[in-house]
Amino acid sequence: MAKRKKTVITYGTFDLFHIGHLNLFKRLKELGNYLIVAVSTDEFNQLKGKKAIIPFEQRIEIVRSIRHVDMAIPEVNWEQKLYDVKKYSVDIFAIGEDWKGKFEFLREYCEVVYLPRTKGISSTDIRKLLADFNISKDELIKAFEIIDQLKKNLE
Ligand code: CTP
Repeated sequence: MAKRKKTVITYGTFDLFHIGHLNLFKRLKELGNYLIVAVSTDEFNQLKGKKAIIPFEQRIEIVRSIRHVDMAIPEVNWEQKLYDVKKYSVDIFAIGEDWKGKFEFLREYCEVVYLPRTKGISSTDIRKLLADFNISKDELIKAFEIIDQLKKNLE
């Protein structure tokens, strides 16, 4: 007998795709057998006061290419979740536990699951690390001058 389709849906920005995102997708797929991932557009992120480094078109392409993901769709507003749950006959809405309690209103239509986050990594952490590398041109010139001086001292 054919296995019944069990659809899982999740939402997020997935900027600077990392192992926390991948672990989440693996766990989500294990909850069912068809995974839909809604990726926040740059415009929606602006509304949320969030700025991704990687543009939406690239973020959704990366998410779509992950083997656990069956379909990737854009997330354009807060109201969309209820609409998607009905449109795609979603069985399980699941998201990281940083959103715990925020989507209880969906329980009327599907199961709602909050999953533990992978510890020690987030897009915010990576953005901060990248910002630390963002030294000015003047600082760079100064650094090279110091290196030159050190070389001369060693000669
Ligand atoms: N997530 C996770 N483990 C992490 C980071 C994120 O399980 N270490 C999950 C979140 O709980 C969410 C999804 O990944 O369900 C998308 O989260 P997103 O906000 O895009 O990722 P973050 O790394 O948390 O990004 P930011 O720091 O910008 O909030």
